[in-house]
Amino acid sequence: MDLKGRSFLTLKDFTPQEIIYLIDLAAEYKEKKKRGIPHDTLRGKNIALIFEKTSTRTRCSFEVAAHDLGMGTTYLDPTGSQIGKKESIADTARVLGRMYEGIEYRGFEQTIVEELAKYAGVPVWNGLTNEYHPTQMLADMLTIREHFGHLEGIKLTYMGDARYNMGNSLMIACSKLGLDFTACTNKEYFPDAALVAQCREYAEQSGAMITLTEETQAGTKGADVIYTDVWVSMGEPDEVWAERIEKLSPYKVTKAVMDNAGEKAVFLHCLPAFHDLKTKIGKEQGGKYNFTDLEVTDEVFESERSLVFDEAENRMHTIKAVIAATLGAV
Ligand code: CP
Ligand code: NVA
Repeated sequence: MDLKGRSFLTLKDFTPQEIIYLIDLAAEYKEKKKRGIPHDTLRGKNIALIFEKTSTRTRCSFEVAAHDLGMGTTYLDPTGSQIGKKESIADTARVLGRMYEGIEYRGFEQTIVEELAKYAGVPVWNGLTNEYHPTQMLADMLTIREHFGHLEGIKLTYMGDARYNMGNSLMIACSKLGLDFTACTNKEYFPDAALVAQCREYAEQSGAMITLTEETQAGTKGADVIYTDVWVSMGEPDEVWAERIEKLSPYKVTKAVMDNAGEKAVFLHCLPAFHDLKTKIGKEQGGKYNFTDLEVTDEVFESERSLVFDEAENRMHTIKAVIAATLGAV
């Protein structure tokens, strides 16, 4: 398997074999890290990390992964560079491509990260756009495989806003890798029909099933994984909160949902999560709309069925695999 020189913009660009290769490689790096075996095979190289939206997991994963591989990093925060304000994406790409071996981008439209990749001359990695979050997918699939021992045939139900980066990306990952994907939500929040059609083609190859349903009982019955994400994503205006709470509240992940899924079901969330009011935004919006949790109850989030912190840790191991494979370190 040779992924050297490739950008990592969406899993649509990768075959199931290539995706599994990256998950396997991440598992190897995880083992090495746990055993204290050095793997700094990219010594002397540098990467740039562009964040036009905030981050905890993705930024830290890129920084720790790069450091473990022996590399240097430069973090460009949402306000601290010329990008988009005084300098175009194409010009930025050509400048950074002269100094760095790879570039991570987190921000808005997918077209921006595609433009960066077109002009940079070095691999570009998507650290989240409005449409996709592909590095998160590798971590999620590694976490599911670690827990269940396999991916094919797993039933994953996604509840909440299924028409944004997380819903889209999970549908792609599941349909490529043979997991049954169900979007269980208000029909206004179903994924885009063209993407559903494309994923149904992937599913024909992998044997996966794709289901879109508004029925919570039927949509979660027998699921192995119940997955959700915030109802209001980064960059969305405050005005959408009221409508999201109204339309998506029936799709909150509660103990009743987990019990309906069955005893073996686990809970995943890309994080950060509104499971209590211990955050500034949680307090503000919770006071305004009278809630104490949103997409998941604190009970489920804190339960033994919740694998969210294994999932968060796996962001680092999987991002390391993407950097190493695309920079030719393996
Ligand atoms: N899941 C995720 O991407 O988290 P951050 O926004 O903290 O990077
Ligand atoms: N849908 C969320 C994902 C965060 C990791 C957002 O875009 O804010």
